[in-house]
Amino acid sequence: TYVVTENCIKCKYMDCVEVCPVDCFYEGENFLVIHPDECIDCGVCEPECPADAIKADTEKGLEAWLELNAKFAQSWPNITVKRDSFPDSKEWDGKPDKLPLLSP
Ligand code: SF4
Ligand code: F3S
Repeated sequence: TYVVTENCIKCKYMDCVEVCPVDCFYEGENFLVIHPDECIDCGVCEPECPADAIKADTEKGLEAWLELNAKFAQSWPNITVKRDSFPDSKEWDGKPDKLPLLSP
């Protein structure tokens, strides 16, 4: 499966949702997650993210992010259409230590 990781937080560009063939993105206030049981591993979303926040879970060290994606995919609403991103999305792109800023 693919997972959304830290750099999505407060960037939330939403380009990813437009390309997913199985619509498995779920939306929080300032972060998106992928439902790991629904993702068919097509890889199409990975290059679409301007923040480079989507990774294959075969990459090392993503266990915590996979857990977090799985958890929030249970309760957050599905998102399939991109809206305007935050006016300050670009300013947050690449900032370190954004995890505490994630709105559950
Ligand atoms: Fe959707 Fe494919 Fe990305 Fe999985 S890898 S979230 S199926 S676009
Ligand atoms: Fe987040 Fe990238 Fe999608 S910033 S909302 S994973 S396009």
